[in-house]
Amino acid sequence: MCGIVAYTGANSALPVLISGLKRLEYRGYDSAGVSLLDDDGIVTVKTAGKVSDLEKELADLSEDIRLTSATCGIAHTRWATHGTPCTANAHPHSGCKGRFAIVHNGIIENYLALRQALEDQGHHFRSDTDSEVVAHLLEQAAGLDPNADSAALVKTILPKLQGSYALAILDRDSAGRVFCVCHDSPLVVAADGSMAASDLPALICAGVNEVVYLPDDQLVGLGRPLTGFTIKRIDTDLTEAEHSGFPDFMLKEIYEQPAVAKYAMRNDFSNLDLNTRDIRRVYVVACGTSYHAGLIGRDLIEKWAQLPVDARVASEFRYGNPYMDEHTLVIALTQSGETADTLEAAKLARSRGAKVLALTNVLGSRITQVADIVVNIQASLEIAVAATKSYVAQVIVLTKLALYLACARGLLTPAHLTNIEAQMALLPDQIQSLLDQRQTIEQVACQCLNAHTVLYIGRGVGATTCLEGALKLKEISYVHAEAFYAGEIKHGPIALIDPIGVTDKVKATPVIAVACAQATYDKMISNIEEVQARGAKVIAIASEGDEHIAELTPHVIYIPHTSECLMPVLAAIPMQLIARYIAVEHGQNVDQPRNLAKSVTVE
Ligand code: AGP
Ligand code: GLU
Repeated sequence: MCGIVAYTGANSALPVLISGLKRLEYRGYDSAGVSLLDDDGIVTVKTAGKVSDLEKELADLSEDIRLTSATCGIAHTRWATHGTPCTANAHPHSGCKGRFAIVHNGIIENYLALRQALEDQGHHFRSDTDSEVVAHLLEQAAGLDPNADSAALVKTILPKLQGSYALAILDRDSAGRVFCVCHDSPLVVAADGSMAASDLPALICAGVNEVVYLPDDQLVGLGRPLTGFTIKRIDTDLTEAEHSGFPDFMLKEIYEQPAVAKYAMRNDFSNLDLNTRDIRRVYVVACGTSYHAGLIGRDLIEKWAQLPVDARVASEFRYGNPYMDEHTLVIALTQSGETADTLEAAKLARSRGAKVLALTNVLGSRITQVADIVVNIQASLEIAVAATKSYVAQVIVLTKLALYLACARGLLTPAHLTNIEAQMALLPDQIQSLLDQRQTIEQVACQCLNAHTVLYIGRGVGATTCLEGALKLKEISYVHAEAFYAGEIKHGPIALIDPIGVTDKVKATPVIAVACAQATYDKMISNIEEVQARGAKVIAIASEGDEHIAELTPHVIYIPHTSECLMPVLAAIPMQLIARYIAVEHGQNVDQPRNLAKSVTVE
């Protein structure tokens, strides 16, 4: 999480740092700050809130000439892990004497012990962050070896740090230099040594087109061109990072899904070194929305390719001692390619001899360096924190993978394959037809406004879609939402349905029920009757032409007919629109929901 930008060069540093921070705000946005270095030392400005709040703060200080004249600096937009999002905890942090200023992404896991030792030696801390220890350690090292240069001091303290870090460091005694190093946390550096940032957009917007993905534990000093590293050219188009007439990125990305679906289904696995006949077991590891896509992949691979497949939340996988050997395929699903939990799960898999196949949306991301095989889901840049188009792309790519594995193992008839591929080819138009019904969907979504909780129920892939629908709603609207297997509600969750609904239809507990044409349709109808009998207000997501369901509830959203295995793609669209509509109606910032960030680079 959190965005780091560092610059040194011929120009005024502040505008470069601020526009870079704006491009990285998806990584965290609870506070922001900047430190500039000139011949008089370091000047720091920071504030709680977003980059726009930092800009206001800077505007109030505009008579301070140093802010505009300095040509070297570091900046940060934070996603707090340790300490509340207040100004004191905002980065950059300094030690007692102000010689160093540091920005940090990650977690210093042993910070308490380090802090205690430093405090015992008289160091005074001004924040509750784990990060501040870095500045004090540098000061301590400088005190012990007054002749050491900045790079030597940084190298001295790194072995003391446990955990993950990307650091950009200013030293008053090293004019025009910024020292950058990372460990299990990303940093991309301009090949000419002018800039570094947590991610490409900050560099691209400054005109950088040659970069180095900084390897772990390699210290570089900005201010000189980089040598001895692999240089990558970047050709990413930043027009994707514009709203393009939509009120928010989430809606824009939802509307991109017909095109995304088209691209995703072009994926071909036959050129990959998968050794399908060697695979005896498959794990899918992922977090959040990617995990929900993974659950669908699990079911399809198991069903069609007849392999044992387990989908695991990545943060649990690593600590669960899962059985793996050279016949195990681990599918690491991560849109950003940066999720620390998924990266660690993938590293564990490799260390146990398993083959790791990464499905990601960001080429060059850290997962692409860890995995044996990388597949680009081609959803194009996703900015809104809520994953939408990447979910649709992941589900389609996993469906293609399941088909490929089944064919390679001789388990799918050509007729079956042709049938599914034909249904798949219809998806882009079908998604578009759902988007065209947005107004109707939003009218139905009104039923959930002002609800304390929204329950989602479904069976089979419908239940998995519900998990995703509930996550979407809670993360952007802050309305409590929970998904259940419809068959399970009578074993406990049905007690959540508020009996007030029997007499007051407006306040009735909304239950979103996925009841599309599938083998369990009749059972699903019974489950709908059960919740209605307790006073719930049912919003049904049903297949086009289902007149029976309209007799049960007036609130129906119809999705086009498709094969059961592809239903999660179509059912996801109204779920996304419902969540966004409720969030917007509640006045929330849908692109930057509270407490969240797009890239979750801490465990
Ligand atoms: C999705 O809406 C969430 N923001 C979140 O659950 C996300 O899917 C999760 O953090 C995993 O991210 P990744 O796909 O980039 O690994
Ligand atoms: N751990 C640091 C803090 O809480 C950095 C957080 C981050 O990486 O987002 O300030």
